[in-house]
Amino acid sequence: MKSTLNDREKQELIRKALEARRTAYAPYSHFLVGAALLAEDGSFYQGGNIENASYGATNCAERTAVFKAVSDGKHKIQAMAVAGGMEGGDPADYAYPCGICRQVIQEFAAEDMVLIVAKSDADYREFLFKELLPCGFGGESIQ
Ligand code: THU
Repeated sequence: MKSTLNDREKQELIRKALEARRTAYAPYSHFLVGAALLAEDGSFYQGGNIENASYGATNCAERTAVFKAVSDGKHKIQAMAVAGGMEGGDPADYAYPCGICRQVIQEFAAEDMVLIVAKSDADYREFLFKELLPCGFGGESIQ
């Protein structure tokens, strides 16, 4: 695919996702996830997963980042990077957004939004967000 992000922006987004991973609160799963998004106005938002003793109340890293952006008035996401893996080291594998997060991201995704899953700044995969949630249910579906 032809990316709307240049290499410098990709590297910055991945670095910010890895940095956000250090803010994860995951005392139950010990699976630390970081997400960073680039809003349409060029600003960045970061988030980590926030677990809860009542497991279902856990908030994923992607949604933490999205909610921070939206609560700051940013409603269009140009790109997002996600990095997740067990604590104690760098991510061993790519961590893809869960179904709930894909639905939440879709609400605010730019048409050509890029989603990157990264193990490191040198090892990552890049998708168009709409490839990860085809035929999604959105605002246009309820008009
Ligand atoms: N998690 C995320 O932060 N993002 C995802 O897309 C999938 C899962 C978190 C939730 C939980 O704290 C931990 O990973 C294990 O499921």
